[in-house]
Amino acid sequence: MRVVELIAAKRDGQSISSQDLHELIYGFTRQSIPDYQMSAFLMAGYLRGFSFAETVALNDAMLNSGERLDLSQLSGPTVDKHSTGGVGDSTTLVVAPLAAALGMQMIKLSGRGLGFTGGTLDKLESIPGMRTQLGDDELISQVSQIGLAVCAQTDKLDPADRAMYALRDVTATVGSPALIASSIMSKKLAGGAETILLDVKVGSGAFMKDVARARELASTMVGLGIAHGVNTVALLTNMDTPLGLTAGNALEVAESLEVLAGGGPTDVVELTVTLAREMLIGCGMTAAKDPSDALTDGSAMDSWRRMIRAQGGDPDAPLPAASSTHVVTAPASGRLTRLDAMAVGVAAWRLGAGRARKEDAVSFGAGVVMHAKPGDLVVGGQPLLTLYADDEARFGGAVEAVSGGFDIGSPDAAWSGSALVLEKVGG
Ligand code: URA
Repeated sequence: MRVVELIAAKRDGQSISSQDLHELIYGFTRQSIPDYQMSAFLMAGYLRGFSFAETVALNDAMLNSGERLDLSQLSGPTVDKHSTGGVGDSTTLVVAPLAAALGMQMIKLSGRGLGFTGGTLDKLESIPGMRTQLGDDELISQVSQIGLAVCAQTDKLDPADRAMYALRDVTATVGSPALIASSIMSKKLAGGAETILLDVKVGSGAFMKDVARARELASTMVGLGIAHGVNTVALLTNMDTPLGLTAGNALEVAESLEVLAGGGPTDVVELTVTLAREMLIGCGMTAAKDPSDALTDGSAMDSWRRMIRAQGGDPDAPLPAASSTHVVTAPASGRLTRLDAMAVGVAAWRLGAGRARKEDAVSFGAGVVMHAKPGDLVVGGQPLLTLYADDEARFGGAVEAVSGGFDIGSPDAAWSGSALVLEKVGG
């Protein structure tokens, strides 16, 4: 295989054989193919697209670049979930203990936030003492004892994706459905669970801005899972407005604790219960307790506390709080008709909740608390958002980010809202 010919073939819209794609990814992972050639290939693929057969080859080559977790020692049904990323998306913090409380075994390998989207590891690490780096043996042992672990992916799983993602991030080639699908599914399949539930976010605060592209991504990921004999289902869920009332690490943990205690924002409850029900269906456990009962009877909270303790954290320790606040008020009375997820995500990021480069530190207490959501009536001058930061100099950029990010309309205009769960793909 001559890499330059492969790049030219993709550039000209020809299809690439499975063997060539395997060799390309093998060579790149072992550093015999340089970054500049891989970048050119990724851009050609981004522009020309990949067929499903090519996507399968990309996925399998990435999957084969590293080890896979061996979950054969676990006795119950194993399940994993993945969100394609959004703003205020704390679902894993609720769904993982919920799944364990319902009798499933949840192995959730998570990532850190980058840019305006949050990452589960950053949220968990805001809990004093909490460790997210677990070795394979510790991970399996923890799941067999308490039914769940949420932790970082080990270096041994899918090294090809790590190297390719780093390159895609700086070459404007992230947003290709085939590249996203193979990146996500190669990691999920390496995690070894029998059932995978995908939460594909759609809207302003998501990678996929419209339903058609989100559906394409979801179908491709479901197809990749099924091709590996793994029960895979995707839900398309709305990310035009943030999920819940918080965006930021410790702020989202605090909100998740409210949900695990049987309260919390209704959209977070609706989505986490829906995801848990889909997991039960996927695991053939439809006779199990209803997920909403596990939120109100304390069993999901018990699972959460067990996980935090098992990973070195203190579930009773106060969460970090930012030192300064700034309130954004409603400029007029009326109905809040739009609160843009991207605007809130960028504000939280600028406040210090997210990072611009992988090596940056995050501020655990930074972020945004929303006092109203689309559909709510607001009174001019009332707090709309409270911004939290450790450094007051950050407020200017955050205010700028949210200033065009909401609309207030007539209180009498008809309001129908929009559905949270839009579609199911697979299953
Ligand atoms: N998340 C991933 O893991 N990979 C992508 O390509 C995009 C989002």
